[in-house]
Amino acid sequence: MASLPCYSLCFLFVFSALFVTLDGAFYRDVSGAVPARRVKKTSHFHFYFHDVTTGRNTTAKIVAPPSAGLSDFGTTSMFDDALTETPDRRSKLVGRAQGMYAVTAQQEVDLLFVVNFAFTEGKYNGSSIAVVGRNPVADDVREMPVVGGSGLFRFAQGYALVHTVAIDRTTAVVEYNVFVQHF
Ligand SMILES: *[C@@H]1O[C@H](CO)[C@@H](O)[C@H](O)[C@H]1NC(C)=O
Ligand SMILES: *[C@@H]1O[C@H](CO)[C@@H](O)[C@H](O)[C@H]1NC(C)=O
Repeated sequence: MASLPCYSLCFLFVFSALFVTLDGAFYRDVSGAVPARRVKKTSHFHFYFHDVTTGRNTTAKIVAPPSAGLSDFGTTSMFDDALTETPDRRSKLVGRAQGMYAVTAQQEVDLLFVVNFAFTEGKYNGSSIAVVGRNPVADDVREMPVVGGSGLFRFAQGYALVHTVAIDRTTAVVEYNVFVQHF
């Protein structure tokens, strides 16, 4: 113990104090604690998502191809896409969309979308929103649920409205309007 640096000792001390106050309990009601009693606000985020599937600046890669005879069904891609303020890729970067999409319909192109929007701009820098949902990409507007978040988005709930503004052989530019309730 004598050889442990001070911060390790302090760390141990703080955490043993925490466990003492929990008194060995596996769970407890903390409804009275901040922020559970605070009123949620609703924020609207608007940004553009740039998904580049081929070329030197590829941001999305197929990690699991479909089995033979299944067409696109099952194809799974991972992506790390830029989020910008306007449809122009050179406009201000506000964060990154990191996640995966998989083709989950056998007839049309419906995707299962699982993504974290990790913001890097302004007061939401370092906070993220998690979205999981069905994305039938041929529809003009798709809706996907916001299932949670981190940082300033703890306890977040909401939805994202998604609209493709441009698509070509290499790149899809997709507009996101995200409405999220959070503390
Ligand atoms: C890749 O990105 C750079 C920097 O934004 C750009 O100058 C270049 O034209 C892009 N290349 C392709 C093939 O899109
Ligand atoms: C966002 O936060 C990171 C880590 O704290 C910091 O390095 C970066 O400069 C911040 N970006 C902006 C635009 O404030």
